[in-house]
Amino acid sequence: MSFVNMKRQYIYLAIGMFLLVVMLFFNNKPTYQCQLLTTEDATYEYLPTIYAITPTYTRLAQKADLTRLSQTLMLVKNFHWIIIEDSEKKTPLVENFLKESTLNYTHLNVKTAIKKMKARGVEQRNIALDWLRGHLNQTEDKRGVVYFMDDDNTYSLKVFDEMRKINKVGTWPVGLAGGIRVETPVVTDGKVSGYNSVWETRRPFPIDMAGFAINATLFLEKPNAMFTRNVKIGYQESEILKYFASSAEDLEPLADNCTKVYVWHTRTQKPFTPHQKKLKISDSHIEV
Ligand code: UGA
Ligand code: MN
Repeated sequence: MSFVNMKRQYIYLAIGMFLLVVMLFFNNKPTYQCQLLTTEDATYEYLPTIYAITPTYTRLAQKADLTRLSQTLMLVKNFHWIIIEDSEKKTPLVENFLKESTLNYTHLNVKTAIKKMKARGVEQRNIALDWLRGHLNQTEDKRGVVYFMDDDNTYSLKVFDEMRKINKVGTWPVGLAGGIRVETPVVTDGKVSGYNSVWETRRPFPIDMAGFAINATLFLEKPNAMFTRNVKIGYQESEILKYFASSAEDLEPLADNCTKVYVWHTRTQKPFTPHQKKLKISDSHIEV
């Protein structure tokens, strides 16, 4: 092989490698740009933290209810779950369940003093509010939204998008609540002017717990805002709302001026297990 031929081969090889590098560069560029864009978007988009407060208690369908709820919550960004067991001690079921979840959570417990008392979740929500105040006092970013969630309701992801728009207190319809298809605030000219509900209409705010959320920072401004046993059944929502709103007009209507249902007051039926005692082999080692 002559010297000239060898040189030519090197030139072809160099051109080939150059073309390969150029091709790789253009091929990679869109992905590279795309990654840059998403990182930038994430830094500019501010999402207030949602602090969801959920009382829970031991029963046969508890793990099923918590599984369904937590798998919705896994899809919510900037979310902190305050889950409070109605028990003297934290149970292994809930403790392990939370550890295995990928959620941001705080696990608390307090036992309801007298079970015969009808309103549920009172003491549990109050210790969660104490925790929240302590947390916000230590945190630089005191912004956020507080939402009181039952462990057996059904939540669309859309309800979380709505509550991040709140200035003080936001409200929206709740499906399957109050003995009707949907319990809803009535909106006139963009303001809440009343309520379309039937059950206990004398309540100052005839709204279900799932139908409102409150700006978290306001809980620092109102250190006494809490739930109480000194009110009739069904008045817990009005009790907490009275600290932040004096009338319907103070509530901010969300979910398309309260025309959309993004949360349902579903209730899990008590499981029916009449044959349990007839089992020949014990299943007590299996957590259900
Ligand atoms: C309705 C409202 O949706 C609740 O937010 C409200 O607390 C309740 O009425 C009330 O005022 O008593 P409802 O479906 O009747 O809800 O109540 P549950 O879902 O049975 O209980 C509400 C929450 O408290 C649930 O997260 C539940 O796990 C918890 N709970 C219930 C306890 O922590 N301890 C109990 O003994 C019972
Ligand atoms: Mn419920």
